[in-house]
Amino acid sequence: MISTLRTRHLFFALNRQLLGLTLGQGQVHNFATSSITSGNRAIVYTSNGDPSSVLYAQTFPNLPPPPPNTVNVKFLLSPINPADINVIEGVYPTKPVPSHSLSTSGKGSKDSSLFVGGNEGLAEVVDVGPGITGLQQRDWVVMTKPQSGTWISSKNVSAQDILKVPRSGLSEAQAATMTVNPPTAYNMLHDYVELGEGDWVVQNGANSAVGQAVIQIAAAKGLQTINFVRQRDQIDHLKEHLLGLGATHVVTYEELCGKSFRDKVKEWTGGKNIRLGLNCVSGKTTTFMARLLGQDAHLVSYGAMSKEPLSLPTSLFIFKNLTCHGFWQSRWYLRRTPKERERLFKTLASLMCNGKLKGPEHEVLVVSGTDEDNQASLKIRDTMARLARGKFGKKLLLKIEETL
Ligand SMILES: NC(=O)c1ccc[n+]([C@@H]2O[C@H](COP(=O)([O-])OP(=O)(O)OC[C@H]3O[C@@H](n4cnc5c(N)ncnc54)[C@H](OP(=O)(O)O)[C@@H]3O)[C@@H](O)[C@H]2O)c1
Repeated sequence: MISTLRTRHLFFALNRQLLGLTLGQGQVHNFATSSITSGNRAIVYTSNGDPSSVLYAQTFPNLPPPPPNTVNVKFLLSPINPADINVIEGVYPTKPVPSHSLSTSGKGSKDSSLFVGGNEGLAEVVDVGPGITGLQQRDWVVMTKPQSGTWISSKNVSAQDILKVPRSGLSEAQAATMTVNPPTAYNMLHDYVELGEGDWVVQNGANSAVGQAVIQIAAAKGLQTINFVRQRDQIDHLKEHLLGLGATHVVTYEELCGKSFRDKVKEWTGGKNIRLGLNCVSGKTTTFMARLLGQDAHLVSYGAMSKEPLSLPTSLFIFKNLTCHGFWQSRWYLRRTPKERERLFKTLASLMCNGKLKGPEHEVLVVSGTDEDNQASLKIRDTMARLARGKFGKKLLLKIEETL
């Protein structure tokens, strides 16, 4: 009996801890409740903080028919990207706008600031409003407006904030992830230095979704890549996977920091200058990677997964004329014309359709239509907590069904 009670107590305590529900002394967070039990559902938050504490699922009334120049879309898959976490934490420079159009009798009514999570996603057109041309039911579209709130089952979106993508030749996962990581990879390979067949590129975080896109786009251009990854139990398996995507060499950071590694690289390149380095990690290992760069090279930083600063020897600037840049795909979208954006998507879609750019390895988290909002909230919070502990080696994609 005692052991049963203890087990039960432990179960509840563990469950509360696991789900991040305990706030402080005796305080337990109640999820927002809504009187609406079926309809459109979104993963939302009203204040910034740890996603495993501030996110919750909420059902909203079904949407009205799309107004003029607006399209009603149903989301098929929406990625959870590292930047989405930063946005919820409140530490990302791009801020989402509150979703005033969602009304409910629960928390997050029209009066308070309610934000829907998610930046990118693939959706299917369900209905088109008056004045829409070039789009019809069942077309696939991706979001071009940053922070558009894609962790939702359906939405009315302005026609200028979406772009049609081909349904045939692309998988749902490829299309859902095509507006952030592949463009980042493509632009970093093209915008800083003109590289021709046989030229070399070095990059860290090479098994990230961006890194894997870099490997494939570089291989399609005939470029050679030296790719750095973290040591792990099944490192040979990871190396094989990246080599299979077209990487020339895959190396751990321990190997990179080893004594004779620069000699090995000289052997690989035949002494040819390496003129492009891509960094999403920073910290000490990036200093070692930068030392591999040759004359007039460019080091492009687009992330800082180690959360450490980037520190570079001054000699690289003086004697090798190194140039450093920061790349941000959001800035690229802001500064380029819709035509340039369309051209970029066409190029990426064509690489994907030709089998030269695979979608990321992924897992789909389904928030099922039969889950109640409370259950869905627990599922999301648990996932966010596991994500923070690095429990997913694969890209995580959300599929949010309407509440039945
Ligand atoms: N600037 C831009 O426009 C732009 C666009 C897209 C993405 N990004 C950034 O690029 C980065 C990668 O994004 P993603 O979506 O491709 O990521 P992802 O697929 O989720 O992969 C994350 C990568 O970071 C690595 N990592 C995590 N913590 C690390 C640490 N402490 N030290 C070294 N490596 C670590 C992981 O290595 P393990 O597998 O070893 O855990 C993995 O390779 C993120 O920082 C993201 O914000 C920037």
